[in-house]
Amino acid sequence: MSELIVAPSILSADLLKLHEQVREVVDAGAKWIHVDVMDGHFVPNITFGPKMVEAVRKAAPQCTVDVHLMISDPDRYLRDFKNAGADILTVHQEAAVHLYRTIQRIRDLGAKAGVTLNPATPLELLTHVLGEIDLLLVMTVEPGFGGQPFIPFGVAKVAKARRLLDSVASEAYLEVDGGVDEHTGEKLVRAGADVLVAGSWVFGHTKPGERVRKLLELGQVLHA
Ligand code: DX5
Ligand code: ZN
Repeated sequence: MSELIVAPSILSADLLKLHEQVREVVDAGAKWIHVDVMDGHFVPNITFGPKMVEAVRKAAPQCTVDVHLMISDPDRYLRDFKNAGADILTVHQEAAVHLYRTIQRIRDLGAKAGVTLNPATPLELLTHVLGEIDLLLVMTVEPGFGGQPFIPFGVAKVAKARRLLDSVASEAYLEVDGGVDEHTGEKLVRAGADVLVAGSWVFGHTKPGERVRKLLELGQVLHA
């Protein structure tokens, strides 16, 4: 891994100040912005559509817009999110019935293809597509809401994901999402994560930029 990436999740941002909040985390060094799309079907909550991706794209033209699709039948919406400005489209293994084809469709659209798993879903289900993906997202909370406590077995799962990716010489990003703060973040970085998503810990603070800088400092544990 080269450099730790922090991807603040706008799920916990103050949407009336979206532009300002995005600028603040970008100025603090966040290179990615994470957008959580929920459909009220795959997960119980409902959040954003392509318009939000468009707004984030405009607010942070130089950033990687990292779109986490917590939706059933994701194939129906891939093109809309890509056209709205998504750089990465991550789908849930549990929601994609024909996962290999979904991955190919994302790549054919010119986006990076991410795959993610609910906490209880074993990594082994991805064995045959590990060489096909650009990003593996390990969920360390049940998807659907910000501010939930980190599920402790997440650290071991991330370490295992790192071994699996290395075993196929994959250059895919290993991203972690859910309950990330400076303490869980350090364990995750040591376990081999290279992208940390953080929502409530960043935007729940009066100075989100400070929180981003704290997480970025964890990248130094790798070189210590
Ligand atoms: C949860 C989302 C997360 C969420 C994380 O379903 O996928 O991206 O924003 O929020 P925190 O960091 O508060 O756990
Ligand atoms: Zn997410």
